[in-house]
Amino acid sequence: MAQLIDGKRISKEIKDELKVQTARLKEQGIQGCLAVIQVGEDPASSVYVRNKKRACEYIGIASLSYELPEETTETELLQLIEKLNADEKVTGILVQLPVPDQIDENKIIQAIAPSKDVDGFHPQNTGALVSGLPGFVSCTPAGVIQLLKRTDISITGKNCVVIGRSNIVGKPMAILMLRENATVTVAHSKTTNLKDLCKNADILIAAVGRPKMIDASYVKEGAVVIDVGIHRDAQNNLCGDVDFDSVFPIAQAITPVPGGVGPMTIAMLMNNCVEALMR
Ligand code: GUN
Repeated sequence: MAQLIDGKRISKEIKDELKVQTARLKEQGIQGCLAVIQVGEDPASSVYVRNKKRACEYIGIASLSYELPEETTETELLQLIEKLNADEKVTGILVQLPVPDQIDENKIIQAIAPSKDVDGFHPQNTGALVSGLPGFVSCTPAGVIQLLKRTDISITGKNCVVIGRSNIVGKPMAILMLRENATVTVAHSKTTNLKDLCKNADILIAAVGRPKMIDASYVKEGAVVIDVGIHRDAQNNLCGDVDFDSVFPIAQAITPVPGGVGPMTIAMLMNNCVEALMR
């Protein structure tokens, strides 16, 4: 039976640490404000945005909310970002993704001032990560590292397989694991021997985007399994990329969905917001 990696507890621990920091900064007259922009009314995005604003309130930084209509043009969104870039009171800017089709996501990411890019998506920040320079790190992969470290799971020298190569999760995840001295393999939809590769992993990180795809046949006995996916199954229950019931009996440790990686993304966003303040 596996150890459950409790993302809810660890995220609260991190947010409580950040709360102390923001209180100290406030005493020095330093206050933060996160601007959160949502275009359209995607229900999942609305939940994430609400949780992000709640977390701001919890740790003691202000948040500004921009709920723009679905038909917002790229120019309008770029103008808002320009305004927020120039506003000294705004210390962090976040555009909830995905944005509607008429808006070029890359243009939006590149328009946000790198010093306010608390999502860590701007090429200046992703480039800094690859080069080992200071910068904002994408929240979900940063959260996975914290989960491992705060559960005393050692990373150095371990075989790590990351399934998924997105700019937001897979790629930065691989770089972060490399930075922690793991031997890293990045697998994706064109990988031919996926099962064999995964079976070799001491730490398996699933960011595939397919519900319950990773069952026990992909997992080495005693492996650590991190599930980045979040989906609704046929019964409308939340589930991950990992078939939890199948993998739980053979893993050394595993993250549940919900309550694993999800809460960590927000904790690390808050961490980036406080970092933006301290710069
Ligand atoms: N959509 C899904 N994940 C994220 C995230 O981490 N940040 C933003 N801005 N949008 C997302």
